[in-house]
Amino acid sequence: MKKTAIVTGAANGIGRAVATACAANGFSVVIADIDAENGQHLQDRLLNEGFDAMFVKCDVSDPEAITGLVKTAADRYGRIDVVINNAGISEFTPPDELTVAGWDRILNTNLRGAFLLTREAAPVMKKNGGGAVVNIASTRALMSEKNSEAYAASKGGLLALTHALALSYADDHIRVNCISPGWIHTGDYSKLREIDHTQHPSGRVGKPEDIARACLFLTHPDNGFINGENLVIDGGMTRKMIYQY
Ligand SMILES: NC(=O)c1ccc[n+]([C@@H]2O[C@H](COP(=O)([O-])OP(=O)(O)OC[C@H]3O[C@@H](n4cnc5c(N)ncnc54)[C@H](O)[C@@H]3O)[C@@H](O)[C@H]2O)c1
Repeated sequence: MKKTAIVTGAANGIGRAVATACAANGFSVVIADIDAENGQHLQDRLLNEGFDAMFVKCDVSDPEAITGLVKTAADRYGRIDVVINNAGISEFTPPDELTVAGWDRILNTNLRGAFLLTREAAPVMKKNGGGAVVNIASTRALMSEKNSEAYAASKGGLLALTHALALSYADDHIRVNCISPGWIHTGDYSKLREIDHTQHPSGRVGKPEDIARACLFLTHPDNGFINGENLVIDGGMTRKMIYQY
């Protein structure tokens, strides 16, 4: 029986690359997103290419929608092996203008959604001997620009949530890791400027496929000794001192 991966926020950007990589590596893929048009389009493309995929409309900030997502995936495929908590929104607002509703929208999508989906999927994963979860955080969990409080807090929370879940689900053989991407360009890569690339120690801006390959690596059973970890994938930017002399 094929393994099953649920990827949230899979209709666009990084999530689409992760879902595509999972499909190409033998998974049945559940594409979970609020964007029905692009989610359906990705499902149809993967099916046309001979892969197994299903789009499920799901708002990860809605607890009931998450319960429905896991039920739909389990009913269709009978198992869940991998969960990639990728859905996320970023809004930058000065702290004195950030409303409680705005804070809650970002935290409930980026952080609470990852917790709830992992908790819902865990009993299904456990039935087939366990699995692996990857939370997509950000280098903004580690460093900041102005006016990013809610987003930074949500991503910092994901780092802590990752090691907490890794411990709670250790006995169920469910590993939980985290990826903190730096600048991953999801638009037209050819439009980037020379300076965009050269400022990175790696000499280029990141691509969604950089994150997709890391998801495959972290979730592969051969890498079972990696647990509760945060993998920064940013072309070296957070290792670069930026004092100006
Ligand atoms: N692109 C980057 O440079 C970068 C850097 C660091 C972290 N990240 C993180 O990577 C993840 C993906 O980012 P991206 O650049 O591909 O973003 P994106 O905006 O291109 O894609 C995000 C996807 O999530 C979906 N989504 C938004 N809210 C949702 C919700 N409530 N429920 C379900 N789906 C929802 C959107 O419809 C979209 O398909 C996010 O968590 C983001 O914070 C991105």
